[in-house]
Amino acid sequence: MTTAKALITGNSSGLGLGLSHALLGRDYQVYGCSRRGCAALADRVVDVHCDLSDLDAIAPALDQLLAGVDRLDLVVLNAGILGEIEDMSRVSVERLREIMDINVWANKTILDWLLASGIMVGQIVAISSGAAVLGNRGWGGYALSKAALNMLCRLYAHEFPDTHVAAIAPGLIDTRIIDTICQIDDTTRFPALERIHAARGTETLLSPGAAAERILHALPGLTEFESGSFVDLRQVLAPDEYQALMAARNRPGG
Ligand SMILES: NC(=O)c1ccc[n+]([C@@H]2O[C@H](COP(=O)([O-])OP(=O)(O)OC[C@H]3O[C@@H](n4cnc5c(N)ncnc54)[C@H](OP(=O)(O)O)[C@@H]3O)[C@@H](O)[C@H]2O)c1
Repeated sequence: MTTAKALITGNSSGLGLGLSHALLGRDYQVYGCSRRGCAALADRVVDVHCDLSDLDAIAPALDQLLAGVDRLDLVVLNAGILGEIEDMSRVSVERLREIMDINVWANKTILDWLLASGIMVGQIVAISSGAAVLGNRGWGGYALSKAALNMLCRLYAHEFPDTHVAAIAPGLIDTRIIDTICQIDDTTRFPALERIHAARGTETLLSPGAAAERILHALPGLTEFESGSFVDLRQVLAPDEYQALMAARNRPGG
C-alpha cells in the first residue's frame, strides 16, 4: 500500500502543528513549511524553512520540499497571520498588503506551483475564518484577507477540476492568534473580542489537537459541498455555536 502524503503550510505551531501530528497518527507522510520549522516533529516530518511573505522564495522551497513527490492526498493552506485588531482607517495600505501577501498571495503562489508541478492533488483545504463573512469591527486586514482567500478557492476550483477545493472556518483554536486577541481589552470599540475572551477555559476554544481531529473528521463531508465552497465547520458540527456567532455579529452603528 502506498503511503498517503499531505502538505501542511505553517506547521511550526498551532493548528498546522496539530494537523501534522494528527496526520502522522494516521500514517501520512507530512511535508511542511514555515519560518521556524517543525522542530516538535523534527524526525517525523519533512519540512523547509520558508518565509511565505517572500513570494519569490516559495517555488524554490517547494521544488526542494516536494522533489520526487507525484501525489499529495491532502494540501492544507494553513499558514496565516492575524495582523492587528484595529479600525480600518488606522491600518496602512502597506500593512494590509503584508497581511494579504501571507494570507492570500502566498496561497496563490503555492496553488500555481502545484498546477505547474503536475503533482496529483486529492483535496485542498484552505484555513479561512468566520471573520471572512462577519465584518466585525477591528478585524480589518484579517477579514479582508480571509474573504479574498474564500474567493481564491472558488476561482481555483475551476482550474483544479480533479481536486476538491474548500475554504473552511475551523472554529476558535487555542493558539498564538488567540493569545494575541486575549491581550487586547478594548471591548467597547471591538465588541467581538468579548466572545473570544469568554471562550477561554471553555470547550468552545479547541486545543490545536482537537481542532485538527475535527478537520480531518470533516474532510470526507467537505467533498459533498461544491468544489470551491466556503464551509464554516461550526455550521455543520456545532450549529448552536454557529447561531450564537451570527447573533453576536456587530453591525455598523450597532
Ligand atoms: N486560532 C484560531 O482561533 C483560528 C481561527 C480561524 C482561523 N485560524 C487560522 O488558522 C491558521 C493557523 O493559525 P494558528 O491559529 O494555528 O496560529 P499560529 O500558531 O500563529 O500558526 C500560524 C502558522 O503560520 C505560519 N506563518 C505565519 N507567517 C508565516 C510566514 N511569513 N511564512 C511562513 N509561515 C508563516 C507560522 O509559522 P512561522 O511563524 O514559523 O513562520 C505558523 O506555523 C491561520 O490561517 C489562521 O488565520 C485560526
